Amino acid sequence: MEKILVVDFGGQYDQLIARRVREAHVYAEIISYRDADPEKIRSEGYKGMIFTGGPNSVYDPASPKCDPGILNLGIPVLGICYGHQLIAYLSGGRIECAESDGEYGRTEVSVDFDSKLFCGVPEEIVCWMSHTDRVGSLGEGFKIIARTQKCPCAAFEDENRRIYGVQFHPEVTHTQFGSKIIENFVVGVCGCSRDWRMEDFIASSVELYRKELAGKKVLLGLSGGVDSSVAALLLHKAIGNDLTCVFVDHGMLRKGEGDLVEQTFRDRFGVDLVRVDAQDEFISKLEGVTEPEKKRRIIGEQFIRVFEREAKKLKGVSVLAQGTIYPDVVESGKGEAGVIKSHHNVGGLPELMDFESIVEPLRDLFKDEVREVGLKLGLPKELVFRQPFPGPGLAVRVIGEITREKLDILREADAIFREEVASHGLENAPDQYFAVLTDLRTVGVKGDARAYGWTVALRAVTTDDFMTAEWTRLPYDLLDRVSSRIANEISSICRVVYDITSKPPATVEWE
Ligand code: XMP
Repeated sequence: MEKILVVDFGGQYDQLIARRVREAHVYAEIISYRDADPEKIRSEGYKGMIFTGGPNSVYDPASPKCDPGILNLGIPVLGICYGHQLIAYLSGGRIECAESDGEYGRTEVSVDFDSKLFCGVPEEIVCWMSHTDRVGSLGEGFKIIARTQKCPCAAFEDENRRIYGVQFHPEVTHTQFGSKIIENFVVGVCGCSRDWRMEDFIASSVELYRKELAGKKVLLGLSGGVDSSVAALLLHKAIGNDLTCVFVDHGMLRKGEGDLVEQTFRDRFGVDLVRVDAQDEFISKLEGVTEPEKKRRIIGEQFIRVFEREAKKLKGVSVLAQGTIYPDVVESGKGEAGVIKSHHNVGGLPELMDFESIVEPLRDLFKDEVREVGLKLGLPKELVFRQPFPGPGLAVRVIGEITREKLDILREADAIFREEVASHGLENAPDQYFAVLTDLRTVGVKGDARAYGWTVALRAVTTDDFMTAEWTRLPYDLLDRVSSRIANEISSICRVVYDITSKPPATVEWE
C-alpha cells in the first residue's frame, strides 16, 4: 500500500495534515520525530514525507531535530512551518528571527504556479501563517517559489531532490487551495496513485488481527457509541467469537438504546455479547446524591467494578480491546501536541485490570473515517451517526437526586423530542439535542384541574468541537409540537422550556 509519513515536530496540526493526505485517497501515518530513523523509513517504503510545524526555533538546542540523512533517502519531503525551516537549516540555509515582524493569521502570498507544488493554484492566494522565525537564505540546489510582503521565502523547492517547504499551513481551511497543495505534493511530486480506500483499511486490519490475535480471547467494553461499536464489528470480522463484548446497562441509557445495541450486535451480527443489567446497583449507589461531579465519580467507579467482575467470569481472556480513536490519542498527550485533556479511553481501565495486552484497532482513524468504516461494515445509521452521549448518561440530565421514576419520565420526554426532530428531517441539524428533567415543579392545568408537575427543558446545540456551542434555532412549529406532546403524553410534566444559552457561558449538559 502506498503511504505518506507525517513526521511530527510538536505542532498542533499533525493529525490535520494526515487527514488532508487521506482525503486525497493516500494513506498517511504519523510518527514522532524521535522515531524518524532513516533506515527504518527507507525499509518501510514510504512514497513521501511531510514534516509538521512546531513551536520551537531551530537554533534552540532543545528543539526537535531529525537525522539530516532523512533528506538523502531519495524520498520526497514537504516541510510545513517549523518543518520548512528545519529543512532549510539542515541543508545549509540560514534562519532568522523576525520577532517584531512575524506573521499571524490570514496573509497574502504570491506563488510560482509553474512549480509542481502549486500546479493549478492561482498566483495570489490567502494563506494561514503563524511564525516569528523565517528562512533567510537557502542551501545549494534550492530556490524560492513563494513570497509574502514580510517573508521573502514563503516556500522553496529543490526540484531535483524533490524537497519542498512552505512557511504557511496548507492543512488548515483558511489557506486557499491548501488541500490542492497537499494533493499536488502527494500525487504530483510523490507519484501516489490515489487508491487508498476504507475497504483497504478494513481488509488490512482484519488480516493483521487475525494473525496477531490467533488463539487469544479478547474482551471489549461496548458502550453503543460509534467508536466501540465499530471496533467491535471490525474485531468480530477478524476473530469471530474469540471476541466477547460486555455491554453494561447502568440504567441511565436513553429509551430503546440497550435493546438496539443488543439486537444489532447479538441478533444481527452474531457477536458474543454479554448484556449486564446493573441498573439496581448503579441506582442504589446514586441514592441521595445530588452533586454532579459526585454522580460522575460514582458512575465511573461502579462501571469499572462491574466490568472487572464480568471480565473475571469469562475464562481465558488475555486481551482488552478499546475503541480509542486518533483524536483520543492526541488529546491524552501521547502525541507531540502536549496534554489537552485526559480521555477515559486511553490508559484508564487497563491499569486496574490484568490483561496481557491491549488492542486499539481504530487508533489511527479520525471520527469521520470511523463512521465510514462503520457504514462499510453494515452498522445501522442510528449507531453510526449517533449524537454524542455522555458516559454518565441520563444521570447528568436528571437534575438533583436520581430516582427510577425520574429516569423513566426523562426517557419518555427525550424520546418524544428525538422522534419529532427526526420527523421534521432535522436529525443532522443540531449536533446534539436532548431533554433535561429539572428538579423544579410548577403549577399547571390538566383536564380542568390544577396540576403540580415537573418542568422539562429541551436543549439543542450546534457546534464543531463541543468546546464552544451555539443554541440551535429550532423551528417554532417543531418546538410547539414537542412541547404539546410532552405535556399531554406524560402526566407528571406540567411545563416545557427551551434552553437558549450558548456555551460559554453555559455548558452543553446541565450538570
Ligand atoms: P459540556 O457539558 O462539558 O459537554 O459542555 C461537552 C460535550 O461533552 C459531553 N459530556 C460528557 N461526556 N462524560 C462524557 O463521556 C461526561 O462526564 C461528560 N460531560 C459532558 C457532552 O454530552 C457534550 O457532548
